[in-house]
Amino acid sequence: MGSISWGCCVVLLYVALFLKPFPILVKALPGSYWSANTSTSVTNSFPTPDSVKFDDGSFVSIILSSESNGYSYEHTCHCGFFCNQTCDGSLFAIVRIPLKGGDISKSEGSTVVWAANPTNPVSVNASLKLTSERGLVLTDANGTTVWSTNTSSKSVAGLNLTDNCNLMLLDHNNATIIWQSFDHPTDTLMLKQKLMAGQQLISKGGLYSLALTSEGLSAYINSNPPQRYFSGYHNFDYAGDTVKANSSYVQLNSENLTLFSQGLILVLTSPSDFSLEYMRFEPDGHLRAYGEANYAYDFLTRRIRDCDYPTVCGNYGICTNNAQCSCPPPIKGTSYFRQTNDKLPNNGCSLITPLSCEDSKYHVLSELENITYFPITYYPPKINPNHQHINLETCKQACLKDSSCKAVFYNSNNHMRNCYLQSQIFSLMPTDAGQKNYLRVYIKVQKKKSSDGAELGVGGFGTVFEGTLVDDTKVAVKRFDGLSQIKKSFLAEVETIGSIHHFNLVRLIGFCAEKSHGLLLVYEYMSNGSLDKWIFHRNPDMLLDWQHRKKIIIDIAKGLTYLHDDCRHKIVHLDIKPQNILLDENFNAKVSDFGLSKLVDREQSQVVTTMRGTPGYMAPEWLSSVITEKVDVYSFGVVLLEILCGRRNFDRSQPEEAMHLLAIFKKKIEEDQLLDLVDKYNEDMSLHGEEVVNMMRVAAWCLQNDFTKRPSMSIVVKVLEGVVNVESNLDDFFLNPPLPNTRAGVHNQ
Ligand SMILES: *[C@@H]1O[C@H](CO)[C@@H](O)[C@H](O)[C@H]1NC(C)=O
Ligand SMILES: *[C@@H]1O[C@H](CO)[C@@H](O)[C@H](O)[C@H]1NC(C)=O
Ligand SMILES: *[C@@H]1O[C@H](CO)[C@@H](O)[C@H](O)[C@H]1NC(C)=O
Ligand SMILES: *[C@@H]1O[C@H](CO)[C@@H](O)[C@H](O)[C@H]1NC(C)=O
Ligand SMILES: *[C@@H]1O[C@H](CO)[C@@H](O)[C@H](O)[C@H]1NC(C)=O
Ligand SMILES: *[C@@H]1O[C@H](CO)[C@@H](O)[C@H](O)[C@H]1NC(C)=O
Ligand SMILES: *[C@@H]1O[C@H](CO)[C@@H](O)[C@H](O)[C@H]1NC(C)=O
Ligand SMILES: *[C@@H]1O[C@H](CO)[C@@H](O)[C@H](O)[C@H]1NC(C)=O
Ligand SMILES: *[C@@H]1O[C@H](CO)[C@@H](O)[C@H](O)[C@H]1NC(C)=O
Ligand SMILES: *[C@@H]1O[C@H](CO)[C@@H](O)[C@H](O)[C@H]1NC(C)=O
Ligand SMILES: *[C@@H]1O[C@H](CO)[C@@H](O)[C@H](O)[C@H]1NC(C)=O
Repeated sequence: MGSISWGCCVVLLYVALFLKPFPILVKALPGSYWSANTSTSVTNSFPTPDSVKFDDGSFVSIILSSESNGYSYEHTCHCGFFCNQTCDGSLFAIVRIPLKGGDISKSEGSTVVWAANPTNPVSVNASLKLTSERGLVLTDANGTTVWSTNTSSKSVAGLNLTDNCNLMLLDHNNATIIWQSFDHPTDTLMLKQKLMAGQQLISKGGLYSLALTSEGLSAYINSNPPQRYFSGYHNFDYAGDTVKANSSYVQLNSENLTLFSQGLILVLTSPSDFSLEYMRFEPDGHLRAYGEANYAYDFLTRRIRDCDYPTVCGNYGICTNNAQCSCPPPIKGTSYFRQTNDKLPNNGCSLITPLSCEDSKYHVLSELENITYFPITYYPPKINPNHQHINLETCKQACLKDSSCKAVFYNSNNHMRNCYLQSQIFSLMPTDAGQKNYLRVYIKVQKKKSSDGAELGVGGFGTVFEGTLVDDTKVAVKRFDGLSQIKKSFLAEVETIGSIHHFNLVRLIGFCAEKSHGLLLVYEYMSNGSLDKWIFHRNPDMLLDWQHRKKIIIDIAKGLTYLHDDCRHKIVHLDIKPQNILLDENFNAKVSDFGLSKLVDREQSQVVTTMRGTPGYMAPEWLSSVITEKVDVYSFGVVLLEILCGRRNFDRSQPEEAMHLLAIFKKKIEEDQLLDLVDKYNEDMSLHGEEVVNMMRVAAWCLQNDFTKRPSMSIVVKVLEGVVNVESNLDDFFLNPPLPNTRAGVHNQ
């Protein structure tokens, strides 16, 4: 190198760099030094043919390369403008390129080890300038200074890139390092590079940080406040040596990561013979060292478990052994969570009904039992003094009042009673069986709004609006709540529903899936509304006579028969109730909301293990066995009885012994007094008492406890049309106590 005169060579170097193909160039021209005497600046341009292309499509336009003595190095370091794939923005970065037979054009294993502006990419025509007064200055195309080395106090002679990827600003004698990239690490530590106390590595994307603090090497997730999940002193091994030096730092060596601190040398040793070359703090919070022959060693995972990483199962995900991820189970029968991505359980879970500020009165804190949040017990974060030593109720209230609070972690230990309000929930884990666990985990969830006295639960599918199409056709638009993302599988399902046509099914005219609105389903408009408006009232102007009621009953039965038997895809409705029976202008009855339960099932990780439907209409087998289309037959039986009796299945306005329709129905059957139950506010019904009572026997058949004894819907249609007789042996008759009623079942907080 001694014979080359550097003062004029630099300019030549540039020309050469961008003209000659790279592999040859690196061998022929050492270019590790850039003199500050030349006033040249380098401009960021789109990738040229000479740029080095990475496996993933990224490019680097090289400004300076570490000096390589022919083939003797196993890798080379280069600095320049790096742009990732689309080249929307560039970083001034150092890349490390392994040499494969001296050829850097095979860039496999290449990696960015440092960047000046990791969070502020610059555009095309940005420039990098080296001056003796200011050192390196990176200026965006519009003239904004994005980054500089801030070396104004010292005169810079030149810039040198070492073969260990350290970029340094040197003085005139090459004696003093005025600035070096090793003092400003990003996410990577090179061999022999020191991470000093007070410095930190920040993972790409900024989620995690690793710093040397008074408590050793500590890893944090940058939540608000940051939450520690690894701490060096507890996990490093004592090397048996002491140091005299006072400074604290960690350093990567070829066999270990060594921590010098408080007079001690502590060490994490790599078990392999392969030499380590660099170490990166990665976007998943792992600290991995990489070495020759693609060797990788995870320093932290040898000390903490997979489930100890905060984002191992994404938000709200529960991590069990070997990083198996799942969503929180239903809480008291209601599912609140679904997988964010069906195929990727580690992506975490989200709320089926997202929390919305307008609906804050429906927010409740639901306990996840036997679940813990690892870091809080090991590494308690800073606590708001007002949240210390308070009772659980005060803690929960504080969270409910604070819209940024998404969960509460409460340390119920009597000496603590600490309340941690969380604005973000990372991965959770089950408590160790048999261990005393003081931590209580409460997640903020949003209950569905109630409608018409009945809680809809998961089975209730959103809000209905009236709409008009461009051709003036009136339509009903149903917004399918709780879908933040529309997936292809849903759309296929919606298309299936749309392809089902029957006179007694409300027709789906179209749908629209949009990020901002979720899923909108457009249905034919039914001018006379839902059946409940017609049968549960005492308004003499809106009385339905016996002929109309009979017709409505047969219509419902035909609609259900079609769903169960006639279409290509058997569909179990799961939520038959008067609110889901709609009437058109001629009082033709049509079943609505079919197929939607299927969409909900797709949404959830537990298929039909979740109770579904509306209390009061749900078949007894929901409590125990297999769910078949016979659950709809049961619900149909309840609706049938309500139509015949002109009252709700559960009616608080009745005397206590008569509140439950099924209970008095059973009693009246035994007493052979069914006529007492016929809707007495409707003269026409009383007039046809005999026929009405006959139809009550169909209801009794549908309400059999044993689902195998219930008729199919097609049989029901035949009975109603007088073709088949009612089964006479109806002894196993809904003996179960009535299912939990609405209030008891849902208001569980
Ligand atoms: C750079 O310029 C200074 C004077 O400005 C001179 O003393 C020095 O020798 C020059 N360095 C090189 C490497 O040309
Ligand atoms: C500059 O870097 C090269 C390797 O690229 C190295 O050989 C040389 O010693 C470095 N110069 C100084 C002054 O550090
Ligand atoms: C480029 O960006 C993609 C996607 O953001 C990322 O996966 C990849 O690691 C990046 N490449 C480099 C070399 O940083
Ligand atoms: C970059 O600068 C060149 C020369 O001034 C100009 O022709 C070109 O349009 C600029 N590119 C962008 C993207 O601004
Ligand atoms: C320059 O562009 C960046 C984005 O590339 C922008 O943030 C900044 O405000 C711009 N500065 C000026 C002075 O226009
Ligand atoms: C340079 O110094 C200025 C003022 O002293 C400071 O605001 C800026 O953040 C520094 N830039 C860097 C890259 O350190
Ligand atoms: C400083 O080091 C570089 C490369 O290592 C060399 O080219 C340059 O001549 C040196 N400058 C002086 C003044 O020694
Ligand atoms: C090391 O630091 C301690 C406290 O910071 C100080 O008391 C001691 O004098 C220092 N020792 C040396 C050798 O610098
Ligand atoms: C760490 O590794 C280096 C070699 O890379 C070795 O010299 C040193 O003794 C090791 N330190 C400990 C404490 O094992
Ligand atoms: C939680 O654990 C306790 C004790 O092991 C057990 O009784 C209880 O049923 C569990 N709760 C849930 C929801 O699994
Ligand atoms: C039922 O529908 C018909 C036809 O649209 C309409 O005239 C009538 O007012 C409706 N009845 C009620 C009570 O809404």
